[in-house]
Amino acid sequence: MMKTFYIKGITGNSSIYIAERLQNVNKYLPDVKTIIITDEIVKKYYSNDFPDCPVITISTGESIKTLATVESIYRQLIDLACDRQTFILAIGGGIVCDIAGFVASTFQRGLRFGFVSTTLLSQVDASVGGKNGVNFDSYKNMVGVFMQPEFVICDIDLLNTLPKEEVANGFAEIVKHALINDYSMFEFIENNKTQALSLDSQIITKLVTDSIRIKSGIVQKDEKEAGN
Ligand SMILES: NC(=O)c1ccc[n+]([C@@H]2O[C@H](COP(=O)([O-])OP(=O)(O)OC[C@H]3O[C@@H](n4cnc5c(N)ncnc54)[C@H](O)[C@@H]3O)[C@@H](O)[C@H]2O)c1
Repeated sequence: MMKTFYIKGITGNSSIYIAERLQNVNKYLPDVKTIIITDEIVKKYYSNDFPDCPVITISTGESIKTLATVESIYRQLIDLACDRQTFILAIGGGIVCDIAGFVASTFQRGLRFGFVSTTLLSQVDASVGGKNGVNFDSYKNMVGVFMQPEFVICDIDLLNTLPKEEVANGFAEIVKHALINDYSMFEFIENNKTQALSLDSQIITKLVTDSIRIKSGIVQKDEKEAGN
């Protein structure tokens, strides 16, 4: 069952669609030139399901979340004759979305953008809050902006190709959300952890939904909360 959350932020509104499919992303795209930003691994697995648009591909790993990568994307956008009407669609995990959101928010003073979140961590954490940015020197997330994506699609089926440690990464964030905010969610996790870690789609959909509900509540109260 698809579930939608609406975030009303001071930097714009965002709709988060849980259990929607990458194959349906066309439904959410405006009728303008659209550029996809993704990484090599996500492209390898899912390019067949991408909408028919030019694709900018970055490599992977925290070390590429830099201004140099941002600059290389700006150059490709210029080569693709993008202008202020262009829409940016990020398809990837937290790294792709953080970089693409920053690029979109700054190129020609800001383009419209949306995300398809492909990792568990980006679905439960990075999808909500409108934080976009990159690392600088040895400082994590030192340079960035707050700007809400117009939509975030959390396609649960994409998680099946995630390496185990990436599932564990997102799961840890889910446990953190439960521990801080919701004892009954924590009990649910205790009783269903094996199914959750093996990505049982009903269980994981519930946990992603609960996490997003919690985080969107926090963001609504304090969009620019301290820390990261
Ligand atoms: N903006 C925010 O609010 C926010 C919140 C949390 C984390 N973050 C940022 O997110 C980053 C981490 O994000 P992440 O954990 O998603 O890591 P990531 O984007 O590096 O993805 C992890 C790995 O999984 C691969 N991958 C992605 N989707 C896949 C799929 N469906 N199947 C197979 N492989 C796939 C990626 O190519 C990558 O190698 C950090 O830089 C962190 O600062 C941002």
